[in-house]
Amino acid sequence: MPDISVKVDGLHFDNPFVIGSGPPGTNKNVICKAFKEGWGGVIAKTVSLECDKVKNVAPRYGKLKSRQHGEVIGFENIELISDRPIEVWEKEFRQIKEEYPNKILIASIMEEYEEWRWKELTERCEAAGADGFELNLSCPHGLPERAMGAAMGQNSDMVENVCRWVRGATKKPVWAKMTPNITDITVPASHAIKGGASGIAAINTILSVVGINLETLRPMPTVEGYSLPGGYSCQAVRPIALRMVSQIAREFPDTALSGIGGVECGDDAVQFILLGSHTVQVCTGAMLQGYGMVKHLIEGLESFMEKHGFETIEDFRGHSLQFFKTHANLVEHQIQAKRERAGQANRDNEWDGDSINRQTDQLTSDGSESKKSPASQPQPAK
Ligand SMILES: Cc1cc2nc3c(=O)[nH]c(=O)nc-3n(C[C@H](O)[C@H](O)[C@H](O)COP(=O)(O)O)c2cc1C
Repeated sequence: MPDISVKVDGLHFDNPFVIGSGPPGTNKNVICKAFKEGWGGVIAKTVSLECDKVKNVAPRYGKLKSRQHGEVIGFENIELISDRPIEVWEKEFRQIKEEYPNKILIASIMEEYEEWRWKELTERCEAAGADGFELNLSCPHGLPERAMGAAMGQNSDMVENVCRWVRGATKKPVWAKMTPNITDITVPASHAIKGGASGIAAINTILSVVGINLETLRPMPTVEGYSLPGGYSCQAVRPIALRMVSQIAREFPDTALSGIGGVECGDDAVQFILLGSHTVQVCTGAMLQGYGMVKHLIEGLESFMEKHGFETIEDFRGHSLQFFKTHANLVEHQIQAKRERAGQANRDNEWDGDSINRQTDQLTSDGSESKKSPASQPQPAK
């Protein structure tokens, strides 16, 4: 049986599967349910010092379904951070850690851009038993209007300072959660690390409009006739999340990395690990499938490891990163491969009269191969 435990940033996870910050980690009851079902860790719903400023609306979710089978492929939310008081969270963190001392409980925190706020929030969550911190620098809706969330995550100086403030307040792991609503995710990630973050979590949701209701002509989700762009998640975002995770992993190979975005089964999670993630978070998947999905995630991971003969997660973590090259490299590889294939194919009895000139060219090495290769020729537009 392969060992699927993960040691990262001083934390020991039974398995790499972690509930991502959101509804599946929104209070003590659901967090305990997650641990009972077998999740390795939970990132609690993002907490702040002043919950009375958090005013949620309903409805606040929208689904994009596949045309053929109606399966949910994309999910938009305009939900804010936790509307529960920090005092309640402190009490519940303590109770959760008493009940599940060996499970990893990470506090997701967000505040306005003032040092004392981030420090107080960090110290209070740590005193209540949090094993580490995820800094929500990435929520794309509602909070940016208060200069929080993605508004901070899109400003590298702010990212660096917030990470420095939190680093100054705790010795526990500090993971900065990145917004994908940015051109180059490695820029804020580098500032987070410079500020003292020991890990990066990616990605938060992608700013989106899930659709327009063609009866009412109103965008969705519709609240009293109106809407705003919200955060997109679920399987549709996975390719973007994988790309961003790979960029972070290649740039910062020594930093703890938690991959998030569209994970629904073991095979999805394995892809994040192959691109360098130590842990893999799931939010929408757990909302749609329930907490029991972790059993399928574990089965999928174990059967992948058995198939390839991997004994530990470290045996394959980041393995696929080496296969990313520049486009020019791919062209070169293709030229080389064609040359080798031609050499293998051209045994004496394979010469044919009609294409003798092409076969002669293929076997000729005169430095002009790249010019002859169709791969390097401009192709007519289709
Ligand atoms: C309804 C909902 C609420 C969310 N709330 C938070 C939050 O409070 N803090 C946070 O950092 N991320 C929040 N997220 C983002 C998720 O943690 C995650 O980064 C994103 O949804 C992509 O992962 P997924 O496809 O597994 O959901 C929320 C996502 C959803 C769908």
